[in-house]
Amino acid sequence: MRTQVAIIGGGPSGLLLSQLLHKKGIDSVVLERRSRDYVLGRIRAGILETGFVGLMREAGVGERMDNESYVHDGTLISYGDEEFEINFKEHTGTSVIVYGQTEVTRDLYDACQQDEGRVLTEVSAVMPHDLKTDAPYVTFMKDGKVVRLDCDYVAGCDGFHGVSRQQIPEDVRREYEKTYPFGWLGILSETPPVHEELIYANSERGFALCSMRNENLSRYYVQCPLTDKPEDWSDERFWEELKQRIPAKHAANLITGPSIEKSIAPLRSFVCEPMRWGRLFLCGDAAHIVPPTGAKGLNTAASDIHYLYHGLVQFYEQKDTEGLDSYSEKALARIWKAERFSWWMTTLLHRFPDQTEFDLKIQRAELEFLRSNEAAQKVMAENYVGLPY
Ligand code: APR
Ligand code: PHB
Repeated sequence: MRTQVAIIGGGPSGLLLSQLLHKKGIDSVVLERRSRDYVLGRIRAGILETGFVGLMREAGVGERMDNESYVHDGTLISYGDEEFEINFKEHTGTSVIVYGQTEVTRDLYDACQQDEGRVLTEVSAVMPHDLKTDAPYVTFMKDGKVVRLDCDYVAGCDGFHGVSRQQIPEDVRREYEKTYPFGWLGILSETPPVHEELIYANSERGFALCSMRNENLSRYYVQCPLTDKPEDWSDERFWEELKQRIPAKHAANLITGPSIEKSIAPLRSFVCEPMRWGRLFLCGDAAHIVPPTGAKGLNTAASDIHYLYHGLVQFYEQKDTEGLDSYSEKALARIWKAERFSWWMTTLLHRFPDQTEFDLKIQRAELEFLRSNEAAQKVMAENYVGLPY
């Protein structure tokens, strides 16, 4: 087999890159180890920056997103019973949209799978080879047979636990990591959202987040100890805890119901440098992870794809490698700003086990400064809607 760009990983990063390249007549093959249904079964976040929206439209997969998503001009921040709004539109002239990652991935699969053979699912033993030569290739198993895929370039879009990042030699690869001493217990419920905007809540019992997917599908999170398991939390316990962490007036309006999904995710900040090794380019979770507080996971994957897509088009259309040669530096510059913002929001809104009284006073002062200072709110709004590519 031969293609121009071999893409390891059929999550949002790999599929978006493949579809964008396809629109430019550049061939790719996506190698995904799971089934389509398994990938679509993952419950992930749902806040899209305008940059991501633009890429979906450029890829020709924006129609359902434009018809079914919700525009959010701001978000609420609460601490105890107090709350204030960060108005994105007022501070930046733009907004974010709410559209679940599952739906993004579904739209991308529907488009990519219109071309027979462009997405190969349920493959195994994927391994890139000869990345430091001008003739790289990828081997994998499909239906019990070893297959060789020759290519010009390899996009490592295989997430945090994938094979691509490991191809960068340990003495070259620099990894930066921060883990957080708590997790997020998330539930999905077929109930109307408690509020028209998201509510990020800092309470003495810990962080909570009220989000949504549509007018009858809500997504809620509470900060929990890393030792907790989903089975430790009955629906009743979850709802009672959530009510104690959000302002009373919202708790009074909360419509509860059975959870249709319940899971606990740890929080981590992680960056791998560089994001290129010869003909291999790392994208998305393969190269970096953010705590979900700033809703940047999918959106940092999008900016990687933006840079790599334009670099590949520049190469194939003009035989100019400038965009590819500057990919890692450009992608990392934006990633580190998103890492900073995600760390800042996580530090602002969560209760840390080792927090001292002084730490709590500083956190309260930070919240009070954000509530009362226009410039502080503008900075948060600019980061939340997405810094320029
Ligand atoms: N071979 C083939 N496929 C692989 C391999 C492998 N060795 N390892 C992982 N994969 C697949 C996974 O099954 C997954 O479908 O790569 C895909 C990676 O997808 P994601 O982990 O979703 O990463 P990415 O596409 O970069 O999307 C980032 O997803 O996890 C969220 O919060 C994250 O919103 C962010 C987004
Ligand atoms: C979600 O809707 O799942 C969501 C929203 C905002 C976040 C994280 C998750 O910061």
